[in-house]
Amino acid sequence: MKAAYFMRHGGPEVMQYGDVADPVAGPGEIVVDAYAASVNGADWKVRAGTYARIASFPYIPGRDFSGVVAALGAGVSDLKVGEAVFGVCDVGQEGAYAEKVAIKAAIVARKPDALAHEACAALALAGLTALISIEDTLQLKSGETILIQGGAGGVAGIAIQIAKHIGARVISTTSTANLDYVRGLGADRVIDYLTEDFTRAVSNCDCAFDTVGGDVATRSFAVLRPGGRAAFIASGGKAPPAPRADVTSLRPQVGRDRAHLDRLAQLATSGAVRIPQMKLFPLSEPAEAHRISEGRHLRGKLVFKIR
Ligand SMILES: NC(=O)c1ccc[n+]([C@@H]2O[C@H](COP(=O)([O-])OP(=O)(O)OC[C@H]3O[C@@H](n4cnc5c(N)ncnc54)[C@H](OP(=O)(O)O)[C@@H]3O)[C@@H](O)[C@H]2O)c1
Repeated sequence: MKAAYFMRHGGPEVMQYGDVADPVAGPGEIVVDAYAASVNGADWKVRAGTYARIASFPYIPGRDFSGVVAALGAGVSDLKVGEAVFGVCDVGQEGAYAEKVAIKAAIVARKPDALAHEACAALALAGLTALISIEDTLQLKSGETILIQGGAGGVAGIAIQIAKHIGARVISTTSTANLDYVRGLGADRVIDYLTEDFTRAVSNCDCAFDTVGGDVATRSFAVLRPGGRAAFIASGGKAPPAPRADVTSLRPQVGRDRAHLDRLAQLATSGAVRIPQMKLFPLSEPAEAHRISEGRHLRGKLVFKIR
């Protein structure tokens, strides 16, 4: 099969496109013929070696995909060859930048007919992260106010819509060029971080959700009311320590399961969540896709159209 992969850690230029061995469905697994896969913030960090060093090459990154079941491993009885599915590779596994992906059957969901493969690939990991962060981790409630940092990004763009669907008031940050885009996602108030300091503009929030990291993450504690809670997905595997004793700092644990993907599909088909703006790439151009992702100013999602 064709895949996008790298043979050593390095910059975007180490990404290659070529032939690799097809995956095989082990017990409880399926092989999916992928139609689309998305680029997530983790992918360039894996390629650069910022996460664990990889020992075995070629290494195929990529965490989410949408496609059609091509083969069933032993013991799989709840899916059929030919069914359209989407999903996120199991924790600790990757390999979605490829024409075929092997994955546990239990963690994929059926693709709704109303959504294109590109849309489902864009929705999968970003949506799962947004859903688990807003609903399960922060337990955001109707009537509460949340500050969502980085509103134009893939995860935040879905998080804004889930928060609005819950009935919360949403404040979000973005650059000047993306103000209208983030308003269009439903944010009640959008702060241009290039001209306004969010710590002066916002206070007394029930929740903060940071998708930017660094200084933006640590300064987010300042907007919380006493008893407020904050969740962080761009500050490593642990929540940053809170600089004040009256708030809670949380690191969402983004597991994989069919129930969350089904809920995402339902939110998307009901119109509660629209797919973030997509920029499509052929799988043969992984270096350029990584350059854009690593630039950290993409609006929405990068998606590889594979078939
Ligand atoms: N399982 C997990 O824990 C998990 C899953 C998915 C993603 N993540 C992490 O979450 C982070 C977000 O990922 P993503 O793919 O949604 O987006 P991303 O591609 O990392 O971020 C892009 C967005 O960040 C915005 N941005 C950059 N600097 C900003 C600033 N100072 N203030 C506000 N916004 C700013 C940009 O908007 P402007 O151009 O307007 O600046 C752009 O739209 C990444 O670090 C990723 O690794 C974690």
